[in-house]
Amino acid sequence: MFVRARPKIDREKLHALIDTQSGSIPDELLTDRNKFFFNSGRSSLKWYLTYLKNKQNKSLVVGLQAFTCSVVTQAVLESGNKPYYFDVDKKYFTTLIGQIDFNKIDILILSHLYGIPNPDYLLIKEKCKELDIGIIDDLSQTLFSRIDHHCLEELSDCYFYSFGFDKPVSTMNGGMIFIRNDDLELQESYHSIKPESFNKEKSDLVRLLLYHEITSSMNYTQERRLNDRVDALIVYLARRKIIPMNAAMALLKLAGTKPLLIFRKIFNSWVHRIFSIKINVQRMGYLKRTYFQHVYPQFQKDKKFYYEIKEKTVSFFKKMFKDIQIPDYVTGNIEPSWYLRFPVLAKDPKTVIELLSDNGIEAGPYNWDRLSFEGFRELQHLNKDNYINSKQLTCEIINIPNWDDNIWKRLSNIN
Ligand SMILES: Cc1ncc(COP(=O)(O)O)c(C=O)c1O
Repeated sequence: MFVRARPKIDREKLHALIDTQSGSIPDELLTDRNKFFFNSGRSSLKWYLTYLKNKQNKSLVVGLQAFTCSVVTQAVLESGNKPYYFDVDKKYFTTLIGQIDFNKIDILILSHLYGIPNPDYLLIKEKCKELDIGIIDDLSQTLFSRIDHHCLEELSDCYFYSFGFDKPVSTMNGGMIFIRNDDLELQESYHSIKPESFNKEKSDLVRLLLYHEITSSMNYTQERRLNDRVDALIVYLARRKIIPMNAAMALLKLAGTKPLLIFRKIFNSWVHRIFSIKINVQRMGYLKRTYFQHVYPQFQKDKKFYYEIKEKTVSFFKKMFKDIQIPDYVTGNIEPSWYLRFPVLAKDPKTVIELLSDNGIEAGPYNWDRLSFEGFRELQHLNKDNYINSKQLTCEIINIPNWDDNIWKRLSNIN
């Protein structure tokens, strides 16, 4: 079980935006030509990989680590490119330079999981430059992590964020890709995409408010999956003001109780079978874009504080978790975004969360059940022994109880 920091939200701003009747994205939000906002992190990746494939007029081989969110594979496949997997280092949850077969790939997606930047980043970048391999940094789980006092955001020529619920900055669903390239075609391609509907955006903001409430206590159960159809119905009723927010909250809590979770699991797998769930690439709309622009500067302001308290953070973790080994990466030249996300391998997440909240840190338990490993074995018929660390991390350390089999069946039909 990993414990993750909960996103910080601005309730007042959310309420104000939920009550907004209409609007379009103001000009001041459109000035940064290198940042492209989408309805999810996976959409931003799919859009860019599709663009690269079309530009080069061939399917590209995209290197990625076996231990990462399965939707990264999904984006690669749906963009018409081919995934090529590497194993990970067990300490850093990322591929170190020795684990990457540079001769086999055209593009490299480098994942920086749990707030920990890849310690070989500068070496990998140099090598990729030499071989003309583009790097896309997956910063879905980190924010302002540093290497030698430089943020990955500054060092990278292309990175993407996810603004999902359990990410450092959240708009419930959303993503952004930064591309240090002023290609006009990119702009044209982006602006030809449909934005999210106003109602969808409102639902996301209502859901963000509600989920934030229900994860503030121990109502959040380990088995609970976010974003399913049952929750969507409750959110719909709240958004249309058919039921008040408090009632929606109570219903969400009820829907998260054990017997109902069993029912939901069956219901959801049935829904999955009927609907094909492809990545629907849309531009982020007015409400969420406005919300993001409102909260992001606060994170930028806070980052200085996070760096300053790094030492304090390390000793805090040492004190708190006597039974776990504090990895030495917290004391080297890389600085993980500890307070925003942190991996805690704990058997009893409830105690950990209570300890954290006593110390003013909000956290929630999450079971990350969409990690790749089983899937690509099925997809590419690879020898699982090549990915021994990935498998061990996924199956033994995280101890995922339920595999999402359906996604792999759907993916293998795409190619
Ligand atoms: C490492 C990583 N990459 C990509 C994603 C995809 O982000 P999104 O859910 O916004 O599509 C996630 C989200 O869980 C992630 O953790």
